[in-house]
Amino acid sequence: MSASADEIRDQQRIIWDEFSAGWRKWDAELLGWHAPFGDALLQEAELRPDAAVLDVAAGSGEPGLSAAALVPDGTVVLTDISEGMLRVAQEKASARGLHNVRFVVCDAAALPFDDGIFDTVFCRFGFMFFPEISAAVREMVRTARPGARISAAVWARAAENPWASLILGTIARHTELPLPPDGTPGLFRCAAAGSMARRFQDAGLIDVRERKVSTELVHESPGSYWEFMTDIAATVSMRMAKADRASQELIRADVFQMLGRYEHDGAIRLRTTATVVTGTRV
Ligand SMILES: C[S@@+](CC[C@H](N)C(=O)[O-])C[C@H]1O[C@@H](n2cnc3c(N)ncnc32)[C@H](O)[C@@H]1O
Repeated sequence: MSASADEIRDQQRIIWDEFSAGWRKWDAELLGWHAPFGDALLQEAELRPDAAVLDVAAGSGEPGLSAAALVPDGTVVLTDISEGMLRVAQEKASARGLHNVRFVVCDAAALPFDDGIFDTVFCRFGFMFFPEISAAVREMVRTARPGARISAAVWARAAENPWASLILGTIARHTELPLPPDGTPGLFRCAAAGSMARRFQDAGLIDVRERKVSTELVHESPGSYWEFMTDIAATVSMRMAKADRASQELIRADVFQMLGRYEHDGAIRLRTTATVVTGTRV
């Protein structure tokens, strides 16, 4: 039986609260790795110094905190369903001396803001985890003012993302887990070409475009990559937890062996690709 939207939201809150420690621990690595995707969203946002910005599912703070530095006369509201993740963002805002940011714990499909108040709204790597994707798009549109740019980054297909598919594929080979029902949160759930663009168009946005952005996840050793992934990738850890101890050992050994194929210039380099979708509010 598939979980209800409320059950998925509750699970997500619990999982991300738990993984917030990993996101704090690996903050510098995450900032560097994800920077090209945040930069793409900030470019689409066309920020003015006094802009009012909304970051949906901002987690440990990006790209909202980078936006805050670009709008010294404006404001940025960072939202997320996980209080733990937003706490990490709050610590980082204080450390960077940012005073134009606000933090609001809420679900992406029920944003507690008036209509038409934001000059731009974006969401990086959140949509894959929302039980109601179209409802979240509608909320982003509702809270944006006419003419505002709305954008999102979601993971592209598994084949374009060996940083995650290498482990997820290995887990699938070693376990006999049933396929999760449609609508279950997962890294590649929004990967079908044109699927996010269609949702943006259905919500009434115009000038909708999708493009791909790629970079590499770089680690110095298989051990460092493994530790990073099990600390930050909620989907990986949840699937690993369903395997028995013996299978977990085999999965780890297989992944370490396959990582050899991705070694170049003394480091492991794994391709990472996202789809960036953008539209304009009428
Ligand atoms: C992969 S993290 C992305 C965080 C950040 N935007 C970034 O790119 O670094 C996904 C975030 O989505 C949040 N999330 C999951 N379900 C949500 C929901 N229904 N509403 C709002 N946020 C949600 C999680 O709590 C988590 O912080």
